[in-house]
Amino acid sequence: MAVIGTDIEQAATLLRTGKLVAIPTETVYGLAASAFQEPAVISIFEAKQRPAFDPLIVHTHSINQFEQIAVHIPDLAYKLAEAFMPGPVTLILPRNPQIPLLVTSGNESVGVRIPDHPLTLSLLQQLDFPVAAPSANPFGYVSPTTAQHVAQQLGDRIPYILDGGPCQVGIESTIIQVINDQLEILRLGGLALDQIEAVINKPITYVRTSSSNPKAPGMLSSHYAPRKKVILGNIPENLKKYEPQSLGILSFRNLYEPVPTAQQFVLSPSGDTSEAARNLFLALRYLDALPIAVILAELVPETGLGKAINDRLTRASF
Ligand code: TXA
Ligand code: MG
Repeated sequence: MAVIGTDIEQAATLLRTGKLVAIPTETVYGLAASAFQEPAVISIFEAKQRPAFDPLIVHTHSINQFEQIAVHIPDLAYKLAEAFMPGPVTLILPRNPQIPLLVTSGNESVGVRIPDHPLTLSLLQQLDFPVAAPSANPFGYVSPTTAQHVAQQLGDRIPYILDGGPCQVGIESTIIQVINDQLEILRLGGLALDQIEAVINKPITYVRTSSSNPKAPGMLSSHYAPRKKVILGNIPENLKKYEPQSLGILSFRNLYEPVPTAQQFVLSPSGDTSEAARNLFLALRYLDALPIAVILAELVPETGLGKAINDRLTRASF
């Protein structure tokens, strides 16, 4: 079983020797291995049971390290990196050949991210290689936002979980592909689009990719799903169709009668989408563990992180 602790030295030693370490970030916990060691990268895919076509994000501690990872960094990418990194964003850039194609699933592009978490930043500073890290959950399941979530699902497959407490953002990074002076959002996430628009001075249009032709494999419709059926829509309407005892409720601000309170999770009583994002995966896990038949969920307002939350809820409901 994995040891849960805060020993950065031990985590660094394990990573240097090609082992897996779960790491805290501000978005979700990652399952890290040296991006330069192919066998270590393969063991990430094995531990997660992740298909080889789903590329990994490479994590580093500073923009100065980007050249290790990408061959060319467009001006627009620098601008975004300077504005938002460390932070909940990933940039897709042209791959440096020293990043194995295993990491990028054969793509000539690579995802680069600087996670905003003090423990993980000091760990990365001690290493002379970047780490590849997907979210630390079995493929297709909800991402972990605490060390305990990681232990519950992958504890028997990894030696060490670096415990950085609960994730402060709570949903995965926003993924931006940058080609020359053009930007495309591949995944909605912890960095809100209006913040990006304020830096580039242009409106952004996000087009949700279809499940049959995903631009980024994390965008498969059935991703981020709990095991229970999630029905997304008007909760009071949907409530009428079921026995209250058989229901779980995932709501934005309110409790709904007559479902027992212990079977309900309110994401943010004050109506704050950042708080709702922080609670989202915790809520899905909580409800998924109850002896209920279905989870009724509702969309949240599309301000701030609301769009990203609704994206995850929609995918969880397929
Ligand atoms: O917040 C996050 O991004 C977390 C933390 C651990 O950093 N990581 C994360 O990784 O969510 P993962 O593996 O669960 O999702 C990474 C997704 C892939 O599924 C894929 O959609 C996209 O990033 N991706 C990675 N490299 C890419 C590339 N070269 N081109 C297009 N998409 C890429
Ligand atoms: Mg993931």
